[in-house]
Amino acid sequence: MARIAIVTGGTRGIGEAISVALRSQGFTVAANYGGNAEKAKAFTEVTGIPSYCWDVGDHQACIDGCAQVEAEVGPIDVVVNNAGITRDAVLHRMTYDDWNEVMRINLGGCFNMVKATFAGMRERGWGRVVNVGSVNGQSGQYGQVNYAAAKSGIHGFTKALAQEGAKFGVTVNAVAPGYIDTDMVSAVPQPVLDKIIAKIPIGRLGQAEEIARGVAFLCSEQAGFVTGSTLSINGGQHMY
Ligand code: CAA
Repeated sequence: MARIAIVTGGTRGIGEAISVALRSQGFTVAANYGGNAEKAKAFTEVTGIPSYCWDVGDHQACIDGCAQVEAEVGPIDVVVNNAGITRDAVLHRMTYDDWNEVMRINLGGCFNMVKATFAGMRERGWGRVVNVGSVNGQSGQYGQVNYAAAKSGIHGFTKALAQEGAKFGVTVNAVAPGYIDTDMVSAVPQPVLDKIIAKIPIGRLGQAEEIARGVAFLCSEQAGFVTGSTLSINGGQHMY
């Protein structure tokens, strides 16, 4: 029977590409989304992948949402924590809300989703968790103390949980995307983005599918000896 994967933020951008890549690798996929119902509906119509709306920053919503997916689709074997937001501003203009929302959703979401699914993976003796970090969690980024802290936290979370999952057959890894051609990156002012692209040795933005391919590998049977690692996919922007 096909293994079951849930992808948070799985109906748009990098998450959409991950949902599609996992499905084409033989997984049964469910996609979570946070609020863009119109896009989620179109995604489900085109791909046939069911989509489920809840806020990954809400602990109880993750417990209830995963229970619903398990009741309707089956036991969750793979969690891809992809959902994330930006609230970019220099520190002196950043509000507490800007800080808290990014921590709550980007980092808290990983904890909430794994709390809802890890026990089942342990009991069944197989699981994959892939957390989407960021080059900006590795190197820092002007205007992103909130996002860089949350993404950096994801990398620590990954390494700690990998140690707990290993003896139960549950691997936990991260990918660290660079600047990818998505709505999130297109919100960066063009002159700022041009300066960032100029520092990417490969000389262009990445494509969502280039991240999805890495995630699909980490979710595969063949990646059973890979745990606690971070796969950087950033065009050479940061060599870590
Ligand atoms: N290093 C040093 N100085 C910088 C700088 C940098 N990287 N970027 C901007 N500055 C300077 C500017 O030159 C400017 O200085 P002057 O006033 O002396 O000219 C000053 O900082 C203010 O810059 P802005 O006019 O841009 O200020 P702002 O308040 O309007 O905007 C900002 C600040 C919101 C941080 C804006 O610069 C910005 O959006 N930066 C991009 C942040 C970014 O890369 N976000 C990534 C989003 S995508 C993502 O996060 C996905 C992923 O995982 C990779």
